[in-house]
Amino acid sequence: MREDEFIVHRSVMVEEVLEFLRPKPGGTYVDCTVGGGGHSLEILRRTGGKCRIIGIDRDPEIIKKARARLREFEGSVVLVNERFSNLDRVLNDAGIHRVDGFVFDLGISSFQIDVAERGFSFLKDGPLDMRMDRSGELTAYEIVNEYDEEELARILKDYGEEPLARKIAREIVKLRPVKTTVELARIVSRVYRSVYGNRSHKHPATKTFQALRIAVNDEIEELKKALKKTLNYLRLGGRIVVISFHSIEDRIVKNFFRDNTGVLKILTKKPLYPTGEEIKSNPRARSARMRVAEKC
Ligand SMILES: C[S@@+](CC[C@H](N)C(=O)[O-])C[C@H]1O[C@@H](n2cnc3c(N)ncnc32)[C@H](O)[C@@H]1O
Repeated sequence: MREDEFIVHRSVMVEEVLEFLRPKPGGTYVDCTVGGGGHSLEILRRTGGKCRIIGIDRDPEIIKKARARLREFEGSVVLVNERFSNLDRVLNDAGIHRVDGFVFDLGISSFQIDVAERGFSFLKDGPLDMRMDRSGELTAYEIVNEYDEEELARILKDYGEEPLARKIAREIVKLRPVKTTVELARIVSRVYRSVYGNRSHKHPATKTFQALRIAVNDEIEELKKALKKTLNYLRLGGRIVVISFHSIEDRIVKNFFRDNTGVLKILTKKPLYPTGEEIKSNPRARSARMRVAEKC
């Protein structure tokens, strides 16, 4: 039995997504991060399978999971292994010109984080990989072992908002080669301990791993490009729903909505957060926040 056969991804803020998306029969919805298909499945159920879903994911292994999960609605679903920054190509190929709603549930899924060999987890030892799409050339190993100290520190600071970026980068460079996720996590933990003692709520390597993952997968540019492209397809009254998991992503979404007022009406002045109950039953929801805008 493979390790990932035991893994289940629990979708975040499903009720809130449905409430804002208001899926209706005959509508076309683009799930830009289809993952395990959880949000898509609920959108389909809500319309009795009478809407159309275009599900995009850059990870080919995840597309297989979505296909299995959405099988009962297969006639209403098109799944495409692509980056969402190419959503224009996906929609043009499918002959779709107008969309009722886009959903982005950013980041990675449990299928990716919980499989040690993908290299996303600082708790499970694996290679420093972190590619969502394993055909990409850049891995976390190259960044950690080949970038100069200054560039490494910049990545940790800009993409992880890591206050100890300089010290961590210096330590990494000193101890190269760093081969595995747990090796890297230990280095970061040592730097944290030397500065803060044992006072840390989150795992000290959280920000470092977030930063490397963003850099490996070019996540900032991906999001900016994709958001811009949605505007060419959204129908009047159509909505963009974005769930993000850290402040860098959330800021991009907030600024994009604000910069397009006039074209977009912001429906969430402040981001929405999962309920306490959801966080209790699914701790991965704790850093989620959701913003929604409507084409006007
Ligand atoms: C949090 S999961 C989505 C879970 C999904 N909403 C569900 O309910 O099962 C995020 C997914 O987005 C995918 N992803 C992240 N960035 C992407 C990008 N730029 N283009 C396409 N897919 C992306 C990841 O591979 C991952 O499967």
